[in-house]
Amino acid sequence: MPSRALSYLSGFGNEFATEAVAGALPQGQNSPQRHPLGLYAEQFSGTGFTAPRACNRRSWLYRIRPSVTHRPFEEIPTGLLRSGPFLEAPPTPNQLRWDPLPLPSAEEAPTDFIGGLVTMGGSGEPSLRTGVAIHLYAANQPMSGRFFYNADGELLLVPQLGRLRIFTELGILEAAPGEICVLPRGLKFRVELPDGPARGYICENYGAYLRLPELGPIGANGLANARDFLTPQAAFEDTEGDFRVVAKFQGRLWEATIDHSPLDVVGWHGNYAPYKYDLARFNCINSVSFDHPDPSIYSVLTSPSAEPGAANLDFAVFPPRWQVSEHTFRPPWFHRNVMNEFMGLIFGAYDAKAEGFVPGGASLHNCMSGHGPDAETYERSSSAPLKPVYLDNTLAFMFETQFVIRPSRFALETSIRQHEYFECWQGLEKHFGEVVSRK
Ligand SMILES: [Fe+2]
Repeated sequence: MPSRALSYLSGFGNEFATEAVAGALPQGQNSPQRHPLGLYAEQFSGTGFTAPRACNRRSWLYRIRPSVTHRPFEEIPTGLLRSGPFLEAPPTPNQLRWDPLPLPSAEEAPTDFIGGLVTMGGSGEPSLRTGVAIHLYAANQPMSGRFFYNADGELLLVPQLGRLRIFTELGILEAAPGEICVLPRGLKFRVELPDGPARGYICENYGAYLRLPELGPIGANGLANARDFLTPQAAFEDTEGDFRVVAKFQGRLWEATIDHSPLDVVGWHGNYAPYKYDLARFNCINSVSFDHPDPSIYSVLTSPSAEPGAANLDFAVFPPRWQVSEHTFRPPWFHRNVMNEFMGLIFGAYDAKAEGFVPGGASLHNCMSGHGPDAETYERSSSAPLKPVYLDNTLAFMFETQFVIRPSRFALETSIRQHEYFECWQGLEKHFGEVVSRK
């Protein structure tokens, strides 16, 4: 496959128009009787036809063959991939934490991106367009001869190790650790691994599509800026061969043979498209007086539900930043939350944990389960001098949802689960009655 330069269009949810060959985009209409280049016109809808303009998402694709040209699908095994409803294991109120998913051996277990998917848990179910599924991936091989699409929800990819080069129907994206990308529901793609082995996190969003959060009193600027989101320019493959399309449909995997690459869209226009974002562009807002604000100030993207303030999914990131608050316990406070929090670490260290939460690892604190800094962090941060401190070398994130994340059987039974996680809080001592001098 010839390598091509990556080229992007900037903006979030824009009405983009891009063609890899001049003349691929009809002017003035969507579906001419005969396309001047002999392409098929196909609408790719992400919302109902009559969805209000502000949330309507659709693109028009001009392609070599329409999507329907494949042989019938047959079901294939799902491996460790799971889907809502998540009923295979009882959810636990215990705090859960895991080591990183081991990378498969290239010699003994060649594994592509789809073969390397492991589900940690989730909520809701795709048929009701409610909830999320949280997966990890660990792969060592490019997807060769097969393509994938997910009919159940959009995919938020958070690489932690190795770049992903994602060849999609609408163009090519590359996402490195520290970047994220979102692949729309239904979009066909294949993944190559330019750096070799790759590992990361995925939140599959069954609910309303991710969007930029409202800024409220922050004003017109701050957090993630729309112009920093990048959507690929059109790029296509005019390739014939013995290929397969794998579909995830209602949690099951199905495979069909196809005699050509389905990534054959020569031009497209619309606002239903993949995008990427560099988390280093996030404009972090924080306290410059006292107290540790709620983590909603770290929201990059949100999938709202029908209930205001109770998201189907919030994606929050905790980047390098200054801490300057006075008279304040600066790390995240102890809390219990009606929301449900799955966290991961892309690199560095997280300020609420002294050890055990490592890059590639994960934690889950479900509804009303107490959590917070470990004993070592509490003791250190309670007496640390409150000078301005730059938190460097840290990039943690959180998938937060109003729906309880029910762990998969794998998540509960895997050897990477840290059964001793609770121990990190057992050293929190009674201080009541001690005289505290306030400087
Ligand atoms: Fe929390």
